Amino acid sequence: MNILIYGPPGAGKSAVARELATRMNRPLVDTDQAGQAAAGVPVADLIERRGEPAFRQVEADVCRAVAAADGQVVALGGGTLLDRAVRESLERNGIVFCLGAAPEVLRGRLIRDSTRRPLAGDNGSFERLDALLRVRAAHYRSFAEQVDTNRSNPAEVAARLAELMEPRTASIRSPLLSHDIVIGYGLLERIASLRERRGLDGPAVIVSDEAVARCLGERFPPDLPQIEVPCGESSKSLDTIEWLCERLTSLGIDRTGTIIAIGGGVVTDLAGFAAATYMRGVRWIAVPTSLLAMVDASIGGKTGVNLTAGKNLVGAFHPPSVVVADPIALATLPAEEWTSGMAEVVKHAVVGDEDLFGAIESSRTFGTAADIERAALVKARVVEEDPHERGKRAILNLGHTVGHAIEAVSHYRVRHGEAVAIGMAAEARIAERVGLAPTGLAKRLTAILGRLGLPTSWPGADPRELRLAMQADKKKSGAALRLALPRRIGCVEASVEVDESVLHEVLVEFSDSTTTASLRSGGGVDDPDCIFVSERSGNGNQSRPLV
Ligand SMILES: NC(=O)c1ccc[n+]([C@@H]2O[C@H](COP(=O)([O-])OP(=O)(O)OC[C@H]3O[C@@H](n4cnc5c(N)ncnc54)[C@H](O)[C@@H]3O)[C@@H](O)[C@H]2O)c1
Ligand SMILES: [Zn+2]
Repeated sequence: MNILIYGPPGAGKSAVARELATRMNRPLVDTDQAGQAAAGVPVADLIERRGEPAFRQVEADVCRAVAAADGQVVALGGGTLLDRAVRESLERNGIVFCLGAAPEVLRGRLIRDSTRRPLAGDNGSFERLDALLRVRAAHYRSFAEQVDTNRSNPAEVAARLAELMEPRTASIRSPLLSHDIVIGYGLLERIASLRERRGLDGPAVIVSDEAVARCLGERFPPDLPQIEVPCGESSKSLDTIEWLCERLTSLGIDRTGTIIAIGGGVVTDLAGFAAATYMRGVRWIAVPTSLLAMVDASIGGKTGVNLTAGKNLVGAFHPPSVVVADPIALATLPAEEWTSGMAEVVKHAVVGDEDLFGAIESSRTFGTAADIERAALVKARVVEEDPHERGKRAILNLGHTVGHAIEAVSHYRVRHGEAVAIGMAAEARIAERVGLAPTGLAKRLTAILGRLGLPTSWPGADPRELRLAMQADKKKSGAALRLALPRRIGCVEASVEVDESVLHEVLVEFSDSTTTASLRSGGGVDDPDCIFVSERSGNGNQSRPLV
């Protein structure tokens, strides 16, 4: 895993990278210097004589070599990651820290520095720099790790980066459900040592799905047997459990064994349930690789599979020995899965972190280790208070009663996070109708979901079919339907009994294509406010939405 230092001219990339490489005892690569060595002339000469495209070609070749190696600190050029393919290959195996500073600070630094920079403008004229900053503003903002260098020297910035590279540990401490959640860049490569340090010896096996194995397999712990299940919700079945357990026996996994589940929520739910039941319970490590699994599915020890009658109807509480989340794994996550995960992030913000909601609303890019910790902590705190869902934990079901019904009725063609987004929008509307939430809450929630590219209605659905599917949801208790409903951002009430007529009214609105347009006030991927930052990487070259 590489540490990539990026940002506009004058941000201090080379100096910071030098300091950081020394501090962390890692090899240093400066792509400008490597480019000069490859081209045989200074980069400035190359640009002046043969133009920017020739320089970018040399730079792309240098980056290919950088991406193929590991453990380096890399100072990138100020526009290196504009090339989508270069960005994708580097982000698959590295974390980008984007250094930033005010234009006047950048200018001041460039005046003091004698390096020739034809693309940023030389000789005291900064028109080119200003134009470049304008054109690249969205590009630089698209990196989750933003580092302010306005008032810091390179050594101080390097110290801050070294700190950001340290894994963070959050914990759930509760009888029968305790576990740590370790979040950090490059942890995927460190699972073997982590396992050893936590005393998880005995035979081990990796359980993953086909796409995750294809995208991240090179970073899996070496020398361990691997079981792959097909991608998608249909793998969360008792049939797959039987097949998986047969494979575990044939691989010699006994009661001392450990299952290492590497994947999205499907894999962690499935492999976690196998761990709960195989030989009456073996240990497991959850290694979530989707955003949704990092902030939600892998946390709290709920495992399970689906029945035809509904989602997660067979399951067990069986906490992992540890959850290990490496945000670098998200580089290969398809854009639509990223968006789906953002629904659970928003849900956690509504459940218990008003500031997080505000941060997402104010257009900040999400995805740092600290962001993931923050969203995960909301769930961790709730689970700690009510590990076995006897009361408060049910607030985490916000959006899920309607959401699970949508998933079931759509035969899981609507993704979990998308269904939860529609569910949250509908349930916020219900909360307003029953007088629990003030008017305007549903609109605010719908707007943010829409700007993230999430659906907030399901035109054409059959409200009666949805209602029937909700009946099957296990969260129903007794005769009346009880929902987790928002009171305001940061506060959700569990188990609110809802009148059938209100429920029906809202379900009709959410499935009626003639009324849903107005409900989606900011909404949907077609909305002009839905900003897709085209150069953000992701599996299959899709963009990722940012608010
Ligand atoms: N146990 C719980 O408390 C809990 C909580 C929330 C959700 N869930 C469950 O989680 C599941 C949804 O999880 P999900 O959204 O992660 O779905 P998923 O596991 O199906 O993953 C989505 C897709 O992304 C792919 N993928 C995952 N990580 C990738 C990566 N890094 N690179 C490339 N591709 C990658 C997967 O192969 C899959 O195709 C649902 O079954 C839901 O019920 C469980
Ligand atoms: Zn969920």
